Amino acid sequence: MTPIQIEAITSSWEVLSQEKDLIKNFYKKLFEIAPQTKDYFPDDLTKQSEKLAYTIGFVVGNLDRLEDIKDAVEDLGRIHRKLKIKDEEYGYVKEALLFTINDSIEGDNTVTIHAWDSALTYISELMINAPETRKITKKSLFKRLFG
Ligand code: HEM
Repeated sequence: MTPIQIEAITSSWEVLSQEKDLIKNFYKKLFEIAPQTKDYFPDDLTKQSEKLAYTIGFVVGNLDRLEDIKDAVEDLGRIHRKLKIKDEEYGYVKEALLFTINDSIEGDNTVTIHAWDSALTYISELMINAPETRKITKKSLFKRLFG
């Protein structure tokens, strides 16, 4: 992520995170473009919506040190693998999120949308390619404790 992309995402998230219906609109769009994904989710999406918004905020807050949150993102990937989410469904989630973001901010969003696209592609790839188990190497443990 370039500093310009990080700035574009961070400043847009300040606006987007205040948008009451953002996540609701995202799910509406997701179920429109990929109706089969509805079966994965419980009827009441309140809890899930909070978790999703929190996670997006967490990633946005760490865009300048994505390497540091890699383990957490891979954990999330493994959770999704257990849920039997298919690789190609990440594309639908990305498409629905980009649509919702574009719809929620005014003006020329080309740079912002491109930046979100890069970030979501990166996160999705980490999740999809997460190793079966978390690798706890001496180095990462050391880094955790002291680094
Ligand atoms: C960038 C990609 C994604 C992110 C950041 C993300 C984020 C999250 C988070 C934070 C949770 C909560 C995990 C927990 O409870 O510990 C979750 C759960 C879930 N996600 Fe995702 N997700 C992504 C992609 C997808 C995709 C592609 C699908 C399939 C269409 C999906 C379907 C689900 C389902 C079904 C749950 C569990 C809902 C429940 O039973 O409460 N997610 N996701």
